[in-house]
Amino acid sequence: MALVTLSIFLCVVFVDTEWGSKLTADHSLCKLEKRSADCNGRWLGSVPVDLPAETEELLLDANVIQTLRNTSLGQYQFLQSLRLCKNGLELIEPGAFLSSRSLSFLFLANNALFMNCSMTAAALWSLPALRKLDLSGNQLTEEMVATLIQQLSSLESLSLARNAIMRLDDSHFKNLFRLQDLDLQQNYIFEIEIGTFESLHRLQYLNLAYNYMPCIVDFDLAQLRVLNVSNNRIEWFLAAEYNATFELETLDLSHNRLLFFPLLPRLNKLQTLLLTHNQMNFYGKLFNDSESTLHLQSLYGNVTNVTITNLWEEISHGALPFLSFLDMSWNQVRYLPERFFEGMVSLTHLKLSHNCLDTLYIHELLNSLVHLDLSYNQLMDLQISLGPAVTLPNLRWLNLSDNRLQALPAEMFTHTAKITTVDLSHNPVEICALHGSTTGGTSPSCTEFRNAGSLRNLFLTGCGLKVLGSHVFRSTSLEHLDLSDNPSALLGGLVSLQNVAPSLQVLSLRNTGLSAASINADFAAFQKLRNLDLSENSLASFPESLIGLRLSILDLRRNCLNSLPQHVMQNQLGKSLRMIYLSQNPYDCCSLEWWDALHSRRTVHIADMSQVTCNYSSRLISAANLPESILQSCRWLSVDIVLLYLVMALPTCLALLVAFAIIFLTFRQQILQMVKSRYRTSSPY
Ligand SMILES: *[C@@H]1O[C@H](CO)[C@@H](O)[C@H](O)[C@H]1NC(C)=O
Ligand SMILES: *[C@@H]1O[C@H](CO)[C@@H](O)[C@H](O)[C@H]1NC(C)=O
Ligand SMILES: *[C@@H]1O[C@H](CO)[C@@H](O)[C@H](O)[C@H]1NC(C)=O
Ligand SMILES: *[C@@H]1O[C@H](CO)[C@@H](O)[C@H](O)[C@H]1NC(C)=O
Ligand SMILES: *[C@@H]1O[C@H](CO)[C@@H](O)[C@H](O)[C@H]1NC(C)=O
Ligand SMILES: *[C@@H]1O[C@H](CO)[C@@H](O)[C@H](O)[C@H]1NC(C)=O
Ligand SMILES: *[C@@H]1O[C@H](CO)[C@@H](O)[C@H](O)[C@H]1NC(C)=O
Ligand SMILES: *[C@@H]1O[C@H](CO)[C@@H](O)[C@H](O)[C@H]1NC(C)=O
Ligand SMILES: *[C@@H]1O[C@H](CO)[C@@H](O)[C@H](O)[C@H]1NC(C)=O
Repeated sequence: MALVTLSIFLCVVFVDTEWGSKLTADHSLCKLEKRSADCNGRWLGSVPVDLPAETEELLLDANVIQTLRNTSLGQYQFLQSLRLCKNGLELIEPGAFLSSRSLSFLFLANNALFMNCSMTAAALWSLPALRKLDLSGNQLTEEMVATLIQQLSSLESLSLARNAIMRLDDSHFKNLFRLQDLDLQQNYIFEIEIGTFESLHRLQYLNLAYNYMPCIVDFDLAQLRVLNVSNNRIEWFLAAEYNATFELETLDLSHNRLLFFPLLPRLNKLQTLLLTHNQMNFYGKLFNDSESTLHLQSLYGNVTNVTITNLWEEISHGALPFLSFLDMSWNQVRYLPERFFEGMVSLTHLKLSHNCLDTLYIHELLNSLVHLDLSYNQLMDLQISLGPAVTLPNLRWLNLSDNRLQALPAEMFTHTAKITTVDLSHNPVEICALHGSTTGGTSPSCTEFRNAGSLRNLFLTGCGLKVLGSHVFRSTSLEHLDLSDNPSALLGGLVSLQNVAPSLQVLSLRNTGLSAASINADFAAFQKLRNLDLSENSLASFPESLIGLRLSILDLRRNCLNSLPQHVMQNQLGKSLRMIYLSQNPYDCCSLEWWDALHSRRTVHIADMSQVTCNYSSRLISAANLPESILQSCRWLSVDIVLLYLVMALPTCLALLVAFAIIFLTFRQQILQMVKSRYRTSSPY
């Protein structure tokens, strides 16, 4: 105890002398470092007056300064950055910044500046060098905002997030000629009139996320680079008919109510287009009527302007030559129009998961596509026109899980030479057996994995696979294979995996029909295996061949194991194993020596330790907290056996004894005579 106190004391002394004097100057409340004073969270009611006069950065977040007075900052003439967030600040007196003319960064988030807005505004107007202003979370309405910012022509970045703004027009951002970054997220904006951002010639980043915008029509901010309108109620996005090139690189329209693919600027530099969680579909097939047009009426004061757009002309999205990331997941797309991908020459990531696609034809040359997610659709037919002009030469990652596919396009892997990962889980696929033929015919009935030389990760969970043939993975070098939830797949044992045994590192065989009999087909060849899942099979004994592997994770849950061999931990496996899952096996409570050995080994983590139970006279008991009484009964059980032998031996002995006695009594005369005669004969006289 004394030692501990001493070392704490030494630490305090160390901090106080070394750090205290070298890096920060002395101040009772604030941490001073270079030209910065950190007074965050000190319950200060006013700005400290005794900080160094040359302070350039003053941090006063999370204090209780309700009013910033005329005199508060008087002596800090070199102040460039001031943080006063989360103070309950209600008023900045008009003269407060008069002596801090070089202030460039002002953070006033999470205060109550709505209270005395006009006076605070007067204070802000006296800041000629202000570049960044954060007014988020101040309950400001659009009128208050207009008052506060109207003179701040030097401003480059402005945050008005989390306020009470409802509508915006050209009176609100009149003089902000230098503004580049405007954050309006989490307000109640439902209307932005044409011309609102007209004078913001340098605006590049506009965030309108989490508002109530019903549509964006005539979008004409050609200089904007990032527009974020996610989490609104947008049903339409229409760019202005404009011949200028839009600088837009990122458009986030996710989490809205879009019914149609947005009508994007004809000339654009769009790289990222996020459309996830909308209600988009294409309708050309539904309404085969080229006359269908969309009449949009926009009100400009007293003028009604009608824009006519041919809605069903589905590729009116224009070319998207720079688009590299397109996310259309979680929509209601039933099909993609012909030539949809035309011109998307830079597309690398395409997400179409969680839609209603039932067929997909990819005929365009998607040279750059690397990552294609088609999971959770209803695809029965996937056609990729493979051939001399290969469509997907760079594809590496293909997710087709949760569809209705029976097979992949024939010779798919011959043409996608860089593919490493394929997820076909939850599809009724069939894997071609050794002599099965896939040649001829455009729609093969089984999927051929042999010779898929680039494939490394293959997921086939829950595909209802039949018993796998012996060389289905020949000439592949799979590293990660998931065959789980195919209860028949390995009824024939491990022979079907022999081709990939030397390369596999992660193997999931959960619920694949492995049983004690087939398991004898051993794991010895799986020398690179690190992670093995054998759960939910019917293993009645621990596969001995695992002992020589360098596994680091092993899952044995839900099998029929009575016990584990005690020597498991003394072999190669014991040296490499880091994590093991053991629960839901009918272990015998009276032979848990292996458990003790495993438990005492600090290098192995039993991940489901508290769930491991053992079976004692048909009761389930937690193996980790086995009561002493059970242990004793187990010992008694072994002692009992000795007793049992004794009890069984006793009647025999008794019977022998009785028999001996009867014999003795019956033949007593003769025996005595015999003895006598013997005695007589040997008598010395
Ligand atoms: C603060 O300064 C402003 C402008 O200099 C002045 O109008 C106002 O009266 C001053 N307020 C106080 C309380 O001194
Ligand atoms: C600030 O506003 C509050 C409430 O709106 C008011 O009571 C108070 O007098 C105002 N202070 C000044 C200096 O105007
Ligand atoms: C858009 O804003 C939301 C909310 O702040 C954010 O979660 C999302 O990541 C933003 N989108 C982009 C593309 O930055
Ligand atoms: C845009 O350019 C095309 C031809 O390049 C022309 O036909 C069209 O009228 C122009 N549109 C506008 C709005 O200027
Ligand atoms: C659409 O209509 C045209 C003629 O009006 C017809 O030639 C074409 O086959 C139709 N397409 C579909 C998909 O019904
Ligand atoms: C619209 O209003 C302006 C005046 O506010 C008027 O001069 C103009 O004629 C009106 N236009 C129409 C089409 O009514
Ligand atoms: C209405 O549309 C026409 C043509 O599209 C355009 O020339 C005109 O400027 C628009 N009016 C307004 C007020 O935007
Ligand atoms: C494929 O997509 C599904 C659902 O979107 C996901 O759960 C799964 O992890 C993905 N597969 C891979 C290999 O990432
Ligand atoms: C426990 O063991 C007995 C006899 O070995 C067996 O009949 C019973 O089914 C086992 N109970 C459980 C839950 O495994």
